[in-house]
Amino acid sequence: MSLNVKQLAAEKAVEYVKDGMKVGLGTGSTAYWAIRKLGQRVQEGLNITAVATSRASEDQARELGIPLVSFGDIDSLDLTIDGADELDSELQLIKGGGGALLREKIVASNSGRMIVVADESKAVAVLGKFPLPVEVVPFAWEWTVAEIAKLGCKPELRRSGEELYKSDNGNYIADCRFEAIESAPELANALQNIPGVVEHGLFIGIADLAIVGKQDGSIEVI
Ligand code: 5RP
Repeated sequence: MSLNVKQLAAEKAVEYVKDGMKVGLGTGSTAYWAIRKLGQRVQEGLNITAVATSRASEDQARELGIPLVSFGDIDSLDLTIDGADELDSELQLIKGGGGALLREKIVASNSGRMIVVADESKAVAVLGKFPLPVEVVPFAWEWTVAEIAKLGCKPELRRSGEELYKSDNGNYIADCRFEAIESAPELANALQNIPGVVEHGLFIGIADLAIVGKQDGSIEVI
């Protein structure tokens, strides 16, 4: 049976959560294991409060009895644990494969620390093989996506069956295939300057640590 490396990385990250912390809960199949472990620790007496980056993570946390607070009740978070679609050695990330990039970026940016949890397939030399998710407002999305394409990618609007996929915020996601992103900061800047772009999945200077689980059972900390 193959090792669950996502679980391995996620459970290691949960060791960083201490009593009294305010914690951001990520989204996706790796963050799922972190939330599960946190739920277990809460049931054993760990005292934390949390906010979630998606409806799915919120539902999971609620089922596990993790105390959730609203954003108006706290100023910031101590720690966020979240997954990534790609990460490089400088801890630049592509996120948003699960469509939660906007909420994930707000939460991680307001955290004292962000720990990324991933399996080894996510660690890359150069970002860009994974199509970069860009959240765009539905209004005139065709024009917004045409502007994004001029940056050197092939954007495809994400679908959910027959329908266009909508994020938890009611926006569309354009998955943009760049193949190799030479300068993530330059691309981030260019994307931010396109009207209609709500947010993009490049996380630069946000992550503090990555815990990468490997199939041989080891863990690499970047
Ligand atoms: C969701 C995300 C996820 O963190 C990312 O897609 C990784 O997911 P997984 O752990 O399932 O591979 O950014 O918007």
